[in-house]
Amino acid sequence: GEMAIGIDRIGMFVPDQYLDLTDLATARGVEPSKFTVGIGQSRMSVPRQCDDIVSMGANAIADILPEIDVDRLGLMVVGTESGIDQSKSSSLFIKHLLGLPNRIESFEIKEACFGGTAGLFVAYHYVAAHPDRTVLVVASDVARYGLGTSGEVTQGAGAVAMLVSANPGIIALDDDSEDYSEDINDFWRPNGRTEALVDGKYSMRVYLDFFRHAFDAYCDRRSLGLDDFGALLFHLPFTKMGVKALRVALEQADDRNRERLEGNFAMSARYSREVGNLYAGSLYLSLLSWLENPRGDDGDVGDDGVRALAGQRIGLFSYGSGAMGKFFTGRVQPGYQRHLRVQAHARMLNDRRRIDVAEYERLFAAYYGTGDFETQIPSSGFYFSGVRHSIRQYSLAD
Ligand code: CAA
Repeated sequence: GEMAIGIDRIGMFVPDQYLDLTDLATARGVEPSKFTVGIGQSRMSVPRQCDDIVSMGANAIADILPEIDVDRLGLMVVGTESGIDQSKSSSLFIKHLLGLPNRIESFEIKEACFGGTAGLFVAYHYVAAHPDRTVLVVASDVARYGLGTSGEVTQGAGAVAMLVSANPGIIALDDDSEDYSEDINDFWRPNGRTEALVDGKYSMRVYLDFFRHAFDAYCDRRSLGLDDFGALLFHLPFTKMGVKALRVALEQADDRNRERLEGNFAMSARYSREVGNLYAGSLYLSLLSWLENPRGDDGDVGDDGVRALAGQRIGLFSYGSGAMGKFFTGRVQPGYQRHLRVQAHARMLNDRRRIDVAEYERLFAAYYGTGDFETQIPSSGFYFSGVRHSIRQYSLAD
């Protein structure tokens, strides 16, 4: 049959500190259940100045680098909303930090939270044309709305890195998406601004409209129904957004499909609930969360305690404000469990330091400043170490 192309490995990185959102609720005079239930978030990653999209992207790749055959790598693409230069691509910094060869093609893509998905499909077509080569797709972002804004609780920071190849280890993608785009102003960030501008309620409405359009069109065209999906996964700016989108998909569902797809969605939302919005990386963090969090009550857990997901078709909805929506599908590959890093990712999330609201506010204000980088060296990994001669500098801690 046709050559399978898709996601061979997935790595992630989140900064090593978080804000508990009940603390934020208390400080803002809001009922904590508004954040934990109404928005559906428990914690959010808080970046220090030393965590930018380059350092986080490099650390997400480092998570899977030992598994990558660098000789086969042909392209590295970064999708981001929070670029660190108006001209030069963050991918070149990352490529250098990881010591990747100079023969690799490398660039950055922008379309708000859609950049990671754009990169994934560029990678798909690159591998289709050069089946012996592989591509690294990195989605890295800092989500920032401002202190005291209604978007504040939906911030976050982190990166996801995916290796795309022929005969992939984790997900084979179908090159058959349903796209929808329109020039609208739901969320944007004019040049020079460090916080996004957003029309929050409108952005939610457009997200749901685009999802309905793309999902219905996809299912109609291929005569698919809910029975055909093992899971529906979403871009999660906050987990309640995905709950609302799933509700659209389940309008005509019977109890069995409803229970099944809601249960799988809950697994996909676990990491996002702990981390917040990763913009370009959020959909892929949901995918990783779904793969890495076994659901114990649906009877198909294997001897190793991991669900038997192999062979299932999954549907993914990517949304970038401005706006662009894409619904696409893939199949979980046999043996996918071998390529996950469940324990390492659990440690990454659980070993984070809890900071209080005063420290979060101080870090927020300092983030785009010149700062004292000497006090910020993390215990491991790549970090941004300041600007010299208008050039960003990076280091490796160990
Ligand atoms: N207990 C439980 N729930 C409560 C509650 C309480 N005490 N008080 C309020 N709630 C519920 C509300 O009922 C509401 O839930 P429902 O929508 O299910 O009814 C929820 O909490 C949110 O409350 P509000 O409706 O009052 O909303 P808000 O003014 O606080 O703003 C927001 C919420 C619009 C999401 C805002 O945080 C925001 O603008 N975020 C950034 C934009 C965003 O993420 N948009 C998503 C789509 S765009 C996109 O996806 C791209 C991207 O990444 C940015």
